[in-house]
Amino acid sequence: MSISDKIKNLLTKAETGGNLTREDIVALLKLPGDYSPALFAAADRVRKEQMGDEIFLRGIIEFSNYCERNCLYCGLRKSNDKLSRYRMTDDEIINTAQEIKNSRISTVVLQSGEDFFYSTGKICRLIEQIKNETDLIITLSIGERSASDFQSFQQAGANRYLLKHETASAELYKYIRPGCQLDKRMQCLHSLKHLGFETGTGNMAGLPGQTHEILADDLLVMKILDADMLGIGPFIAHPDTPFAGIENDDIEMTLRVLAIARLLTRNTNIPATTALATLHPQGRLLALQAGANVVMPDFTPEIYKIRYDIYPGRTDVGSAAEIISQLEKDFQSIGRTLLYSPGNRPGK
Ligand code: 5AD
Ligand code: SF4
Repeated sequence: MSISDKIKNLLTKAETGGNLTREDIVALLKLPGDYSPALFAAADRVRKEQMGDEIFLRGIIEFSNYCERNCLYCGLRKSNDKLSRYRMTDDEIINTAQEIKNSRISTVVLQSGEDFFYSTGKICRLIEQIKNETDLIITLSIGERSASDFQSFQQAGANRYLLKHETASAELYKYIRPGCQLDKRMQCLHSLKHLGFETGTGNMAGLPGQTHEILADDLLVMKILDADMLGIGPFIAHPDTPFAGIENDDIEMTLRVLAIARLLTRNTNIPATTALATLHPQGRLLALQAGANVVMPDFTPEIYKIRYDIYPGRTDVGSAAEIISQLEKDFQSIGRTLLYSPGNRPGK
């Protein structure tokens, strides 16, 4: 069989839901560049078949940029003393949730660093208040907590939880997240799944020391965990971190990981991440045509948003209103529409 026949067979296997092995995934990641359009088109067809043409929206509130951790890649790391820290007041958080509701979006993502100022009780009260006043579906993205905390959040009304595994290499994980362990992260993810949260994980592409094999393992983590949501973004070097000056990859490899994630996991919710939009003016649109079906406009008030500085250039992608109106324009050209209802994973 010729090389091109082998590649065609592999793409067909991926598109038709055949069980991709680690070797298959590595081969897809390493495909010659001229096969990218075929890979993205296959992922786009599976997205359409499994999830339809609607783009699911989630409103984000970044309510605190304090973090106890020291991840080498992230601008919120505790040792970054150039960062001006903030915590939104409860009223500001509720008002922002109300704005999300007013824009007709039905899901809010409450995101922060690992900030233990927010005790379990504080988070629960916030969840209850948002539920009472807005009835939004609540997603938490606040880092690692104990299984009993997760349970309390659920009892208070939280429905979904995002906790990216970041990298599936235990060694790389330990290096880029000092004092943290991949096993512990995975235990959190298993607890969340077990409790019945719609659970999100994900990774960064382009980390120093990352190989195609590690990226394949990232994809297998997403599949084996049966994650419901997958956040896949490019690593972007931040000048006030130990990874300052590392060259950013182009977005090609991130889009490949995203496309393979769609082919492998079929009916998951996959956002076109802000990091992709930051690295490339068409990043969001390209992702939405390579397997992604979700967009998460950021509703954090401007005064705080510029300080949620995980990587540089984030705020250039615009306000939530700008993002939504740009999306509406772009979508007319690609035959997609916006969905304001909760947008659960099918069957959830
Ligand atoms: N580049 C890209 N993504 C980053 N994140 C943190 N720092 C960076 C960076 N430099 C992402 C991580 C994490 C979330 C807080 O933001 O994936 O989950
Ligand atoms: Fe904190 Fe998350 Fe950034 Fe690590 S990646 S420093 S845990 S906000």
